[in-house]
Amino acid sequence: MVISGTTKICGVIGDPIEHTLSPIMQNAAFEAMELDYAFLAFKVQVKEVGNAINGMRALNIHGFNVTMPHKNAVIKYLDEIDPTAKTIASVNTILNKDGRLFGFNTDGVGALNALEQNGVSIKGKKVLLLGAGGAGKAIAYTLSQESDEFVILNRTPKQAEELSAILKQKFKKKIKAGTFSPESIKDNIADADVLINATSVGMAPNPDQTPTLSEWLKPELVVMDIIYNPLETKLSKDAKAAGAKVISGVEMLIYQGAASFEILTACNAPIDVMKQAALIHLGKVQN
Ligand code: ATR
Repeated sequence: MVISGTTKICGVIGDPIEHTLSPIMQNAAFEAMELDYAFLAFKVQVKEVGNAINGMRALNIHGFNVTMPHKNAVIKYLDEIDPTAKTIASVNTILNKDGRLFGFNTDGVGALNALEQNGVSIKGKKVLLLGAGGAGKAIAYTLSQESDEFVILNRTPKQAEELSAILKQKFKKKIKAGTFSPESIKDNIADADVLINATSVGMAPNPDQTPTLSEWLKPELVVMDIIYNPLETKLSKDAKAAGAKVISGVEMLIYQGAASFEILTACNAPIDVMKQAALIHLGKVQN
């Protein structure tokens, strides 16, 4: 990669940022596509978000990915927000177009593509989503437009209820909300086609945790855990053992990154290159 006076500078802002995979995936993609772009990671404290976005304008930085905890905080500094990001009040991609900053959210489309590219259609299906945090909201927004029935269970039920009310009104679909509890998970999993874990249950440093009992899982179920650390969660292992189709968290990571790449470059993303770069970094495959 040659960085020169014409190179378009992009980056990811967040705190903590040390473990981000965005620079690894995006720079691999830029290189493979021979694009004059470079991607860095910026650790930005909560109190510096406004300065970071104003700095983006001042330095003519071409684009940002936005990660925790700034996905909501950046919104007030942007000029335009796309309908998805606006509804869920969460931006994970910012494009600087001639000084105007546009906010997008690619988490939902990332989840949808992760499912579809692995042969899973949501149309006519019952989806059970665990979690209504930043990622959960984005997934609910995109997938509930496709599904027949959508159920959101969250530890803080109010968040799931507010989300379902907004989506129900917007898409006129069958969307329900409830509490993340063993009883409601068991009840809803019984006739669900797709289970998505968008909570942090099972994430490092607690890889032995899982939101379901293994006996609730069945071969007809598709299970997508959006956690990618560990690469294979306890939920994924239990689902595999039950004969269910399992989609790993790396898939959503790649497809949301690919959608961001397409916003930043207006080119089709080299998915295989991005996936290989992420997996090498995660130690899953050898270089
Ligand atoms: P992300 O951006 O990854 O979605 P987040 O916005 O912090 O991260 O969301 C984390 C999700 O995990 C939330 O749905 C959270 O539930 P609350 O809204 O009640 O906080 C959920 N979560 C975190 N720890 C949990 C736990 N121990 N049990 C159940 N849900 C949990």
